[in-house]
Amino acid sequence: MTQDEMKEKVAAAALEYVINGSIVGVGTGSTANKFIDALATIKADIKGTVASSEATAERLRGHGIPVFELNDALTQVKQLSVYIDGADEFDAGKNLTKGGGGALTREKIVAAASAKFVCIVDESKQVEHLGAFPLPIEVIPMARELVMAEAKKQGGIPQVRKDFTTDNGNIIIDVTGLTITNARQLEDDLNEVPGVVTNGIFSHQGADVILMATPNGVITID
Ligand code: A5P
Repeated sequence: MTQDEMKEKVAAAALEYVINGSIVGVGTGSTANKFIDALATIKADIKGTVASSEATAERLRGHGIPVFELNDALTQVKQLSVYIDGADEFDAGKNLTKGGGGALTREKIVAAASAKFVCIVDESKQVEHLGAFPLPIEVIPMARELVMAEAKKQGGIPQVRKDFTTDNGNIIIDVTGLTITNARQLEDDLNEVPGVVTNGIFSHQGADVILMATPNGVITID
C-alpha cells in the first residue's frame, strides 16, 4: 500500500468520529486534505466546520462544506464536537509535533476549542522521542533573534523558514537537533519567550485518539 493510500484509509476511518449535526474542526496538511475529501461524502450530515488554515477553508468550500469563523461557531455551540488533523510526529504519550505546514497556531486554537482531538497519521510518524522532525515556532518578526537565542539555549539549531509567512502574518523558526524527553516542559518554556505565538509541541493539546495507518489496516491508539 502506498503512503497516499494509507492516508486515504486513515482519513476515512476518522469519519466514525464525526457527530451528526455538529460543527467539526478540521486540520491542515496532506492527511487532513484526505479527510476533507472524505467529509464531503457526508457533508449533509454535519452543520459545518471550522478550518485551521486558509488552505483548509478553501478546500472545504470547494466541496460545498460550510466553514464558520471560530468565534461565530462558539456563539452557537459551547465546543466543537471533534478536531481532526494530522501530525508530523507522535510519541507514546500522544504528544505531537505539528506545524510542518506552518498552521500550528490556528491548529492549536481549534484543537483547544474541541471536545476531542482525533489525530490521523501513518506509521512513519511514530517516534520514541519528539525532535527528529524540526520543531516549528511561530514568532512575531520583531522577536526573531530573541527566540533564536532561546532555541539555542535549549540545545537546538534554529533556522528561519525561507519565504514563508503564516496566516497570522508571522514567521516560522524551525528548530533541529532537539531530543525532546519532556514535551510539556519544552512547550511551556518556549511559549514563555515574549514574541512566541506558539510552538509546534502539542502536549497540552495532545491527541485524545490517534488513528495510525499501517499496510495491514488502521490501528486505534486510545
Ligand atoms: C500543518 O501545519 C501541520 O501541523 C500538519 O498537520 C502536519 O504537518 C501533518 O501534515 P501531513 O499530513 O501532510 O503529513
